Amino acid sequence: MPVAKLGNPCLLRMGVYLCGMIKAGILGGGQLGRMLLQAAANYPIETHVLESDPDCPAAHLCHHFTAGNIRDFNDVLAFGRKLDVVTIEIESVNIDALEQLESEGICIIPKPSTLRLIADKVTQKIFYRDNQIPTSEFEITESRDALQQFPDFFPGVHKVGTGGYDGKGVQLLETMADVALGFNERSVLEKKVNIKKEISILIAVDRNMRMAIYPPVDMVFDPTLNLISYQFCPAKLSEKVFQKSEAIAIKVVKDLKSPGFFAVELFIDADDRVLVNETAPRVHNSGHHTIEACYSSQFDMLWRILLGYPLGNPKLIMQAAIVNLVGESGFSGVAYYEGLEKILEMDNVFVHIYGKAATRPGRKMGHVTILDTNDSALLHRANQIRNTLYVKSASNF
Ligand SMILES: Nc1ncnc2c1ncn2[C@@H]1O[C@H](COP(=O)(O)OP(=O)(O)OP(=O)(O)O)[C@@H](O)[C@H]1O
Ligand SMILES: [Mg+2]
Repeated sequence: MPVAKLGNPCLLRMGVYLCGMIKAGILGGGQLGRMLLQAAANYPIETHVLESDPDCPAAHLCHHFTAGNIRDFNDVLAFGRKLDVVTIEIESVNIDALEQLESEGICIIPKPSTLRLIADKVTQKIFYRDNQIPTSEFEITESRDALQQFPDFFPGVHKVGTGGYDGKGVQLLETMADVALGFNERSVLEKKVNIKKEISILIAVDRNMRMAIYPPVDMVFDPTLNLISYQFCPAKLSEKVFQKSEAIAIKVVKDLKSPGFFAVELFIDADDRVLVNETAPRVHNSGHHTIEACYSSQFDMLWRILLGYPLGNPKLIMQAAIVNLVGESGFSGVAYYEGLEKILEMDNVFVHIYGKAATRPGRKMGHVTILDTNDSALLHRANQIRNTLYVKSASNF
C-alpha cells in the first residue's frame, strides 16, 4: 500500500502506523546488505534488494529480490520507483538514476549529491582540501605518463578515481621506477603517509543532522591481501589523538551535508598527525562488531535513519575484536569452514558467515566477533581464532 513519501519523519511514522509497511530498497546484495536485512526484521519494513546475482548474500533475506544492474540507469530507476526510501551498500551505483528518483520525491539516503562527491576519489580529495580537512598531500593525474611530473610525490600511493574497492585500484609506487604500475586513467597521486595506526570512526546522521558517534576502531591490515585482518574497538589512542580524530570525523560528516551512516577512515602518522584517508557513505566493514558490542548496531542505526526514527545508542557494551574470515589461498569452490565447531565452544564469540557458496583466495566469507573485558585476553582469543578457523574448499577437503 502506498505511504506518504518520506520527506517528513512524522508523516513517515504516520505512514507506518496507518498505511502499512514502508518499502525500503537496498542497492547491492553483498554481506553489508545481508546484515542490514537481518536488522530490518525488527522494524515495520518491506525490504527490496537490487543486485545482478540472484544467489548473492542478501538475496534470500529480503522480501523482494530484483535481478538487475545497480550501475544501470533504467534498472535503478525502475527499482526505486516502487519504493519509499532507497539506500546503498556499495558506492558504485548509478547516481544519475538516484538523482532522478530524488527529484520524483523518493527519499534517497545518503543524498545522491553526497554520494557523487564521495564515489570519485578525485572529488573526494578536493572536498577535503576545500573544507580544510587534513588529508595527505595529493595531485590529480589524468594518465600514467602524468606521474612523471611529480617526483616529490614518491614514495606515493596511486588511486583510481572511480571503480576501486577493497584495495583494488590502489597502487603503492615506492619510486619513480614503479610508474608503469600506475593507472592510466583519472586518478589521485598521494604522498605515502608514514602510518602508525589506521582507525575508523563511524557516525550516524539523522534527517535533522543530529549525530551518534561510535567509539573509534583500530584496523589492522593484511599487507598482502590489503584487507582488514583484525580490528579492535575501542582503538587505543591518547586522549589528544582521540579528541583530534573525533573532531575531524565530525567535521567531515557535517560538511558532507547529508543524513546517512558514514565511516571516516583516518591515518594517525608517526608524528601523531591525524589525516582523513577516505569516507564511506554507508555501513562499513569496520563496524561489524557493533552488532554485538554496541547497544545499537550500525545496521540498526541505518534503519532508524531511513525510517525517520530517533537515533540509537552507539556506546560500547563491551570491548570487541573482529577477525575476518577470508578464503585460504589454494582453495576455490564450495566453501568449508574448518574449525567452526571449536570456535563455537568459546564464550562470547559470534560467528557470521556471509552465505557465499564459493570461496576463493582472499574472498571475504565471514567474520567472527569476540567480546572480552580484558585487553590481552581479547587479543589472545582473536589470535586463537585466526589459527583455528579456516575457509577452505570442500572439494579439496
Ligand atoms: N596515502 C597513503 N599512504 C600510505 N598508505 C596508504 C595511503 N592511502 C592508502 N593507503 C593504504 O592503502 C589502503 C587502501 O586505501 P584506500 O582506503 O584508499 O582504498 P580502498 O580501495 O577504498 O580500500 P577499502 O575499500 O578497503 O577501504 C589503506 O587502508 C592504507 O593501508
Ligand atoms: Mg579504505
